Amino acid sequence: LFGLETDKFGRNIHYYESLGSTQKAAHQLAYDGAPEGTLVITEEQTSGRGRLGREWYSLSGKGIWMSLIVRPDLPPQQAPQFTLVTAVAIARAIEEITGITPEIKWPNDVLINGKKVVGILTELQAESDKISSLIIGIGMNANHEPNDFPPAVEQTATSLFIEKGEKIPRARLIQAFLKNFERYYSIYVTEGFRPIRILWESYAVSIGKRVKATTVTGVIAGRAIGITDEGVLRIEDDEGVIHNIYSADIQQT
Ligand code: BTN
Repeated sequence: LFGLETDKFGRNIHYYESLGSTQKAAHQLAYDGAPEGTLVITEEQTSGRGRLGREWYSLSGKGIWMSLIVRPDLPPQQAPQFTLVTAVAIARAIEEITGITPEIKWPNDVLINGKKVVGILTELQAESDKISSLIIGIGMNANHEPNDFPPAVEQTATSLFIEKGEKIPRARLIQAFLKNFERYYSIYVTEGFRPIRILWESYAVSIGKRVKATTVTGVIAGRAIGITDEGVLRIEDDEGVIHNIYSADIQQT
């Protein structure tokens, strides 16, 4: 990638024409000692993974399918915050390159006009109480045309091309993401999560709205009131009880 504006992120790039999953390849590289900032990127994935064991549809040449290795000196409990750091860096990069301000849906979706344009999957390699590496997987629907999406997702997915009406230069979008990620990561490490939380909330779609959270233990309905400094979603139910949501699918109601 020419024109990188980073010290560390994307300085070491592993590029493939086709891979099963960049997550799988990045896990192996991290395990073998690849440095922080290593990026695995491919034109096509034959078994892309989404959150909660779902399949991630990764068409050849149209999207940005990549995984970034991050090695923060932090405890594993802070891993979920990186999904939010990543979402803010992506939202900012999309704004810079397309002029469109996307919305973020907790925890990991970036939307335009209510449809998903980017998904983030953060996976952890830990040694007891320390993160040894985080594998941050990013799937961006960049240049898909409307009929490129399979029936299962065509109602809920969109691409930057569809929204903007112009082809997106993928390398520039990746450069913008890496620059913003490096910047927000450094703010997060030096100043804590609070400044990231404030930025995140400025893009957030559901805050202040009624939502339904489907968790492994059941459904919680109420008003999303914000996220904590740990990145946990807070929902106030109709009895005024506040629930902390660590992992769920959120629907606006
Ligand atoms: C989600 O919204 O469920 C997360 C989707 C993450 C998809 C990306 S594409 C690059 C990386 N490799 C994978 O197999 N998955 C992630």
